[in-house]
Amino acid sequence: MIESFEAVVDGFVHESSPMRVVFGAGRLAEVPDEVDRMGCSRVLLVAGGPEAAYADSLADALGSRLAGRFFDVVMHVPVEVARAAADAARAAQADLVVCVGGGSSTGAAKAIALESGLPILAVPTTYAGSEMTTIWGLTEGGVKTVGRDPRVQPRVVVYDPELTLSLPSDLSAASGMNAMAHLVEGLYAPGASPITTLVAEEGVRALATALPLVVADPSDLAARSTALYGAWLAGWTLGVAGMGIHHKICHVVGGNYDLPHASVHSVVLPYAIAYNLDYASAALDRAQRALVSAGINAVNPAVGMWELEQAIGAPTTLASIGLREGDIASAAAAVAAAGMVNPRPVNQGAIEQLLRDAWTGIPPQSIRDQ
Ligand SMILES: NC(=O)c1ccc[n+]([C@@H]2O[C@H](COP(=O)([O-])OP(=O)(O)OC[C@H]3O[C@@H](n4cnc5c(N)ncnc54)[C@H](O)[C@@H]3O)[C@@H](O)[C@H]2O)c1
Repeated sequence: MIESFEAVVDGFVHESSPMRVVFGAGRLAEVPDEVDRMGCSRVLLVAGGPEAAYADSLADALGSRLAGRFFDVVMHVPVEVARAAADAARAAQADLVVCVGGGSSTGAAKAIALESGLPILAVPTTYAGSEMTTIWGLTEGGVKTVGRDPRVQPRVVVYDPELTLSLPSDLSAASGMNAMAHLVEGLYAPGASPITTLVAEEGVRALATALPLVVADPSDLAARSTALYGAWLAGWTLGVAGMGIHHKICHVVGGNYDLPHASVHSVVLPYAIAYNLDYASAALDRAQRALVSAGINAVNPAVGMWELEQAIGAPTTLASIGLREGDIASAAAAVAAAGMVNPRPVNQGAIEQLLRDAWTGIPPQSIRDQ
């Protein structure tokens, strides 16, 4: 076998579902036409937070198609919010859910779809990527449950980079690294295929190029467009390829200790790459190649990602985002107990070391460096 193709053609299963993606500045205005195209006429509009302002203009444009609104979105979708959202859909006799916002708005729409089977049209305003996946999440009593169901995957996604201009620099940096994590794990996740690999490498290149420009000037529409393009590729990669130790740590530690979602992803990513570096070297060479083509010439992709985060002011220590040092050992035990498919076998002691490194924020080290 030719060496450079070995990593992707030594066997794979590729499965992805059809979705319609409409991308470009000003495309929010096309949502009513997309609703008509789907044959729907009673829209429940889901949007909370500052991004609800975009939904206000959409509400006007929808006219008589607007059947109701739901504003109370909450991160990680507490079951009470899921119930209230489903009630709102029933009361409105909705035949379509349109969500405008980050992963929290998309999550509320998915909760409705999970119960009712209603289709979703998603208009994302962050880089989280939930709009491209069949993954739903619900939280009850502080415990988050995650599952997959084809009914929650939006049928149509409208990406309008103008809606991301208001995302502050710090949220843009953290959310961008959340997307970056989907791409990097997609390179070695169980569902990786030649197509996801190509997409993931392109996404790393797009985000690594765009995020420094976005943070330097949040109103730079060209940079915003490139970042949102990277986020689309990231969400798709997560949905198709799956995940490994990085996402498991973020879900378990972020969920159990109520840490901000995108920030946990940002902190953990360089350490998760270092953890897997010697076990997925061909896959991670692609991340390195993408970083180099974006002008980040570090010794390996773990250090490159860490340097990118320093440059864009993304969170780099678990201490700074609220994890107490005394919780590290129990967090490591919970991650090890959760079980996962990952290139490097999961060992509680090694996870604890990873979390300690991420807690202090020392430069990430692979086994070879230690
Ligand atoms: N199911 C999946 O596949 C998947 C994938 C990624 C994330 N998620 C979930 O998504 C959630 C996190 O998503 P998120 O990071 O987008 O958080 P979020 O939706 O809560 O948004 C973060 C913050 O940014 C604000 N915001 C969003 N867009 C804005 C804009 N354009 N301008 C100004 N402010 C804006 C929000 O009001 C909020 O305060 C978590 O619950 C996570 O588990 C799910």
